[in-house]
Amino acid sequence: MAAAGSAVGLGNIWKFPYIAGENGGGAFLIIYLVCVLLFGMPLLMTEFLIGKRSGKSAFGAFRELNGNGRWQWLSWLCMLTALLIMGFYFIVTGWCFNYLFEAVRNTFSGMSTEALTAHFSAVASDTPRMIAFSLLPMVLTAAVVWFDVNKGIERLSKILMPLLLGMMLLMVGRVLMLDGSNVGMQFFFRADFSAITPRVVMEAMGQCFFSLSIGMGALITYGAYMPKNQNVAATSVQVIVLDTLVAILAGVIIFPAVFAFGFNPAEGPQLVFVVLPAILQQMSLTWVSSVLFFALLCVAALTSTISLMEVMVAFICEASGALGQRKNGQPRRALSRQKSVMITSAVVGVLLVLCVLSMTGKADWLTIRGYNLFECFDDMTACVMMPLAALGMAVFVGWNLPKDGGRGVLNPSQGVKRWVGKAYIFALRWIVPLAIVIIFLNSLGVL
Ligand code: PHE
Repeated sequence: MAAAGSAVGLGNIWKFPYIAGENGGGAFLIIYLVCVLLFGMPLLMTEFLIGKRSGKSAFGAFRELNGNGRWQWLSWLCMLTALLIMGFYFIVTGWCFNYLFEAVRNTFSGMSTEALTAHFSAVASDTPRMIAFSLLPMVLTAAVVWFDVNKGIERLSKILMPLLLGMMLLMVGRVLMLDGSNVGMQFFFRADFSAITPRVVMEAMGQCFFSLSIGMGALITYGAYMPKNQNVAATSVQVIVLDTLVAILAGVIIFPAVFAFGFNPAEGPQLVFVVLPAILQQMSLTWVSSVLFFALLCVAALTSTISLMEVMVAFICEASGALGQRKNGQPRRALSRQKSVMITSAVVGVLLVLCVLSMTGKADWLTIRGYNLFECFDDMTACVMMPLAALGMAVFVGWNLPKDGGRGVLNPSQGVKRWVGKAYIFALRWIVPLAIVIIFLNSLGVL
């Protein structure tokens, strides 16, 4: 449940609809589902197995599995990816908190489509407010990681995840009753294959990694907490099914409403923040529904940010103990968890402020080729860094582990059927690396 909590988050409810909307709807959905099938299962299992076998997070795990340190760069890549994702994810989480507070104050009542769009722009361009609202979830996340309350998260996920699903189902029911909702359903489910370009395929792959939390070591950490007799394959299937279900439900809620209310499906990152309040206004018990929905969204986001911060905190703890020696030749003592949380929060806090300044146009020098930092972090992590780390993990675990001992990682053991193990190894060695390389080359125009 904790892994599902990491996977299910803003990636499903905020990012999936807006990326699908920008990339042609139905065609994107199909490519996305293909990516989930190709990459999801082998890579989730790999991260869980690495963690379960080593009992450590990314840094310690790669070190332990292969003593010569040649693959240690993978853990640095994971940590950097976690850092950059946090650099924009907390901002979106901040939007959710902002909308939760506004739902409590009933701000959206009676707002037109145009007013909702203008409202989001006003919120997102208000620099002090954005800084405050992105630091708030960061502090909450840091508190949870500080006290190391993984059991608590698991319990929270167990209650709140079904509640979120239930709430989304109610919203689907309401949206499908809107006049003109069928146009949106067609947009989302009818594939126009002429819309598929190398760029769409790349975006779908990136979204798959981002949404499933794979390719950055978050699930290695959660694998390390797994009980020894836990079935890795079954857990992976559960996480994938739940994550994909929530993404599709989000699409089924957003797109019919987009067309019924006259929004633009290619609205970009603000899409769900203008459409969701419009839908919630149509629900019965409007105030309760709105507050409940945004509260659940905030929690879903937090269960993801916790897993992100955990990656960096664990990295700092493990790396600080392993790198270098003191002057007197003694090994360095690892930093405490609390110190790591403080360092992580300080770095992420600075990054968030820079990212907000770059988004609100307060600092032109903080843009790269016309893109603000938010867009850069988002794109770079999902489309480049996570697939790269996944490629590294697939090659490392599939091909490079020493035969003795190390290869044992490939043995999912406990309760997994033989053919599942065989299919897993084949997918990890051939399908995953080849598919990632082909998609990269394709998007670079080489193929
Ligand atoms: N999977 C999360 C989401 O969909 C985001 C995330 C990515 C969390 C990577 C942890 C690691 O929102």
